[in-house]
Amino acid sequence: ALTQDLAGRRVVVTAGGTREPLDPVRYLGNRSSGKQGYALAAIAAARGARVTLIAGNTELPDPAGVDVVPVGTARQLREAVLKAAVDADAVVMAAAVADFRPAVYMTGKIKKIDGEEPEPVTLVRNPDILAELSADRLRPGQVIVGFAAETDDVLANGRAKLARKGCDLLVVNEVGEHKAFGADRNEAVILATDGTETPVPFGPKEALAETLWDLVAPRLTDRPA
Ligand code: PMT
Repeated sequence: ALTQDLAGRRVVVTAGGTREPLDPVRYLGNRSSGKQGYALAAIAAARGARVTLIAGNTELPDPAGVDVVPVGTARQLREAVLKAAVDADAVVMAAAVADFRPAVYMTGKIKKIDGEEPEPVTLVRNPDILAELSADRLRPGQVIVGFAAETDDVLANGRAKLARKGCDLLVVNEVGEHKAFGADRNEAVILATDGTETPVPFGPKEALAETLWDLVAPRLTDRPA
C-alpha cells in the first residue's frame, strides 16, 4: 500500500453471513460470501492497522497478517465483536447478520411424518449489533461503520438507516445480480453523519475498501498514551 495511515490503529471488521440453526442439519442463512469484509480487512492491514476479522460463513482463505475469529450465529458474532471492539479505533460491520432466528432449536433432526403437514417455523428477533455498538461506544472516539444492503429506494432507506442505527458512516449498496452479495464487484454511496455522500463507482470490492478507509482515517481520534 502507498499509505500507512492506519499504522498503530486497531480495527475490527465483520464479514460473511450468519447461520441460524433450526436443527442439527438445517439453518437459515443468506448469500453473503464474505468478499467485501475480507477486502476491507486486507486493505486495512496493508495500510498498517492491526485487524481482527470476525467471519461468519465464508469459503475465503484468511487474509495475510489478520486475526480471524470464525463465528456461526448472530449471537456468536455479537459476543466476538463486543470483545474485540473494547480496544478498537474503528469497527466496520460488513457482515450480513440475520435479523431473525428460529424461536426454537430442535436438538434432534426435524422428521417428515407421513400424512402430516410440517410445523410452521416461528422466528424471533436477533440483537441489533450495529445499533448497540453505536449507542454504547466501547472506546471513546471509536468510529463505527455500518453497511446497508437495499433492494428498493436505496438512498432514502440508507439515509433513514444511518439516523436509526446511530453509526458514523453507512455504506449503502444495492443488491443486484453482479454486485453486492457474492460478486467480486460492488457499487455504493457512503453516507456520513455530517451529511456528506461519497459515491463509489462500480468496481472491485478492494476499491470500495480503499475509499472507506480514506473516509475513516481522518475521523480517528488520538489514542490516549
Ligand atoms: O459478503 P459479500 O458477498 O461480499 O457481500 C457484501 C454485502 C452485500 C453482504 C455487504 O456489502 C453488506 O451490505 N453487508 C451488510 C448486509 C446487511 O445485513 O445489511 P442490513 O441492511 O440488513 O444491515 C444493516 C447493518 O446492520 C449492517 O452493517 C449489518 O452488519 C448490521 N446488523 C444487521 C442486523 C443485526 N441484527 N445486527 C447488525 O449489526
